[in-house]
Amino acid sequence: MTSKRISIIGLGYIGLPTAAVFASRKQKVIGVDVIQDTVDIINAGKVHIDEPGLELMVKKGINSGFLKAVTSPEPADAFLIAVPTPFLKHISEDSVPKPDLSYIESASRSVAKVLKKGDVVILESTSPVGTTEKMAGWLAQERHDLTFPQMHGSISDIRIAYCPERVLPGNIINELIKNDRVIGGMTERCSEAAIQVYRSFVEGNCVTTNVRTAEMTKLTENASRDVGIAFANELSVICDDLDIDVWELIRLANRHPTGGHLAAGARCRRPLHCG
Ligand SMILES: NC(=O)c1ccc[n+]([C@@H]2O[C@H](COP(=O)([O-])OP(=O)(O)OC[C@H]3O[C@@H](n4cnc5c(N)ncnc54)[C@H](O)[C@@H]3O)[C@@H](O)[C@H]2O)c1
Repeated sequence: MTSKRISIIGLGYIGLPTAAVFASRKQKVIGVDVIQDTVDIINAGKVHIDEPGLELMVKKGINSGFLKAVTSPEPADAFLIAVPTPFLKHISEDSVPKPDLSYIESASRSVAKVLKKGDVVILESTSPVGTTEKMAGWLAQERHDLTFPQMHGSISDIRIAYCPERVLPGNIINELIKNDRVIGGMTERCSEAAIQVYRSFVEGNCVTTNVRTAEMTKLTENASRDVGIAFANELSVICDDLDIDVWELIRLANRHPTGGHLAAGARCRRPLHCG
């Protein structure tokens, strides 16, 4: 998708580095955020978040004219949605935390206004299985003049995909470029359109699957990492009691390909609890 316009919706820890990397590859990028201060800071070539290498990249993007920020969507060829997906604050009757999809709904409805035939919409936010299909529904509700994959399959006017973001803060720009991407299109044609978008900067493999598997992949990665962190924290508490150096223990356990896997997954990501 060289020299087409990319719009990134939500200019936070995920959206802003993504926008800056696209701009660094000489793609015209329209970044959208609902917070005016955020938009003003970015248009001044500065950043509102702390991430190594980001400010210089944003500054270059703004100065070269490849990046600009606005508060409401403008026409583009590809829209990447990277808005928050927190838990709802109120506790439901079954006490199971429920995700708040209102940011995705609001972003989808605002993007719908500027969609045209041939555009691709990609959800990047970490989301429960089924959210991309909901997003497709919200887009379709707003635009009866366009066709969508849930009704028209591969011949739809709009292509829709889910592509989870898998970067770690502190190394986001490098990971954006080097990591493999999991791309779940609502149809194969949707997956293909999404690959074309990412190919301008992704050096890793773009692996395709269906939408629901892509959503579940991201949730599985997060859950697996959390289990690893929890396990490493439990180890540190036990090791404190037993007067064992937990770091030495993890190094030793990692000498076996399966024995130390969880601790290996956890050890770099969060300090161990040592209380
Ligand atoms: N931060 C991470 O390390 C990380 C890693 C992987 C995945 N994710 C996922 O990516 C998504 C985004 O996370 P983040 O850390 O970038 O969040 P963030 O809070 O840093 O940024 C989100 C931005 O979206 C903006 N926004 C909200 N509603 C909007 C709308 N309707 N239109 C335009 N902009 C809107 C907010 O103002 C904010 O600037 C979440 O689903 C998160 O779980 C985050």
